[in-house]
Amino acid sequence: MQVISVNPELCTNCDVCVELCPMSIILPSEEGGTPYSPEEATVYCSKCGHCEVFCPEGAISTLFDSTYYQFQDDSPSSLTPSEIGKYMVMRRSVRNYKDEKVEKSTIEEILDIARYAPSGMNNQPVHWTIVHNPEEVKKITSLTIDWMREVVADDIEHPLKPLMPTLISVYENGSDPICRGALHLAFAHAEAENPTGYTDSIIALSWFELAAQAFDIGACWAGFLAIAATSYQPLIDELDLPQEHVVQYSMMFGHPDHKVNGIPGREPVRVNWK
Ligand SMILES: Cc1cc2nc3c(=O)[nH]c(=O)nc-3n(C[C@H](O)[C@H](O)[C@H](O)COP(=O)(O)O)c2cc1C
Repeated sequence: MQVISVNPELCTNCDVCVELCPMSIILPSEEGGTPYSPEEATVYCSKCGHCEVFCPEGAISTLFDSTYYQFQDDSPSSLTPSEIGKYMVMRRSVRNYKDEKVEKSTIEEILDIARYAPSGMNNQPVHWTIVHNPEEVKKITSLTIDWMREVVADDIEHPLKPLMPTLISVYENGSDPICRGALHLAFAHAEAENPTGYTDSIIALSWFELAAQAFDIGACWAGFLAIAATSYQPLIDELDLPQEHVVQYSMMFGHPDHKVNGIPGREPVRVNWK
């Protein structure tokens, strides 16, 4: 089976597809032909679709299952550096949420953007578990606190152990120091053995958080929860992920309860130029 079909009527043999193929499986045209991908190379195709979308003549169609969106004009609208810079530096961790659920359709729109995040060899290993039911978020918070109680009671050292008694007592006094009263959670998970599963999940979650901002949805990385979700069996059981999957990281999200009025200071860029 071939992975691409090249229309000889349109192909000008510019070999852009040959240059761009990340797996180097598109070979230059031979006498009188067009660039081609040998059948034995099919297995190495990462299905990134670059040959199709970068072909200046629109001569290439990928033969694997994919949905290709063709720009409707020559210059797809793009943000200026100043606009994108402002949008990105305005992102803040949101830790206070309105008691108002986010529509599932909005979450689907955010996830639909996050699925375009880059992944190692375009493997796209990230799966999502979205906790939409606020009662389930409470249960997950309570299980995370149970995990902390066990760690505190145990002799085993844990880097977060010194923090745990305070977090437990905040929880016992009626606040939620784990999910901050958010109504929803996003877990990115992938197969435990996937070599880029963790990195790809972190990138996807970063995209999720940035995309969410455009829908006036705030998010915050849920670090305590993520650690509990990989180490505490009752919580792992509660999440009921597909077999072989592990939580790679988690985020809380919802409608922000407060307006942000500025951009806080950060360290200056530290860079070595060579
Ligand atoms: C890996 C990671 C884990 C985090 N875990 C938590 C957490 O458990 N609870 C929390 O309130 N914030 C958490 N945060 C948010 C950070 O505290 C926050 O990003 C940092 O203070 C900078 O603030 P900003 O995101 O508004 O720029 C986490 C952030 C990252 C990147």
